[in-house]
Amino acid sequence: MTEQEKQKSYDDEEKRIQENVSKIKHRIAVFSGKGGVGKTTVSINLAYALQLEGFSTGILDADITGPNVAKMLNVQSELIFLNEKIIPFEKYGAKMMSMASMIKNGQPLIWRGPMRSKLINQFLADVDWGELDFLIADLPPGTGDEILTISQQMKPDYAAVVTTPQEVSIMDAERAINMAKKLEIPYIGVVENMAGFVCPHCSAVIELFGVGGGEKLANKYSVPFLGSIPIDIDARILSDSGKPIVLEKPNCEVAAVFKSIAFSINSICNMDIEQSK
Ligand SMILES: Nc1ncnc2c1ncn2[C@@H]1O[C@H](COP(=O)(O)OP(=O)(O)OP(=O)(O)O)[C@@H](O)[C@H]1O
Ligand SMILES: [Mg+2]
Repeated sequence: MTEQEKQKSYDDEEKRIQENVSKIKHRIAVFSGKGGVGKTTVSINLAYALQLEGFSTGILDADITGPNVAKMLNVQSELIFLNEKIIPFEKYGAKMMSMASMIKNGQPLIWRGPMRSKLINQFLADVDWGELDFLIADLPPGTGDEILTISQQMKPDYAAVVTTPQEVSIMDAERAINMAKKLEIPYIGVVENMAGFVCPHCSAVIELFGVGGGEKLANKYSVPFLGSIPIDIDARILSDSGKPIVLEKPNCEVAAVFKSIAFSINSICNMDIEQSK
């Protein structure tokens, strides 16, 4: 490919991304500094909590080398292409796209940053997301290439930073908040996950990862604290079997927190629309 052809293909992709993104009212990036704190769990349940409020939603699995969204939604289908577009999967009424649909279980994906970014661009340019109220990007841990690409191309209006209450996670979440600020994502909020566990035998509350870390962090950076999600064994069991707890047990405490987080994020995102009227 000549330099000119390369530039044209890049420009065409940019155009397709802008066209696609302009049809999505709000775009949320879910990230954290630390791994395993619950980003995918939050992304999925937030999408369905918003859907329960009547919004159309999509989930973009931007964790290219460790894609978990498909497993947590039990989607095993292969990709379908139509008119040069990729048709997103639909599960429980939400749209979804994940790298997991392109690789076999257990197969490692050894890709450097630019390749991972290229695939995220393709998810944004060539997946037929259609008109959506919310698209939620589930990011890998850390502050690497994926969040840069999502930020530049998807242009999120909300960064939901997930942390557990413990110090080592809070420290990494601080980096995530500072990154969101540097990237000029308009709104930032902190979600605390795995906060307290109620013993099913004696009902005592066990603060496995400490308490209050997420709220302190939010206060330190003057950003909203969106809520504290307790550890719930059902959340883990259901996610392993591909069912979001917010749909399966809509009246449990975890679901209530997710619904409240969805309500807060929607209020903030739509404030902009109200103001610009
Ligand atoms: N509140 C919770 N209660 C019980 N289990 C939870 C809770 N939140 C997350 N989990 C479980 O913890 C594990 C890790 O969660 P998850 O995969 O969402 O984290 P992650 O931040 O996306 O991880 P990674 O950094 O690898 O992408 C999963 O098995 C999930 O089901
Ligand atoms: Mg994840």
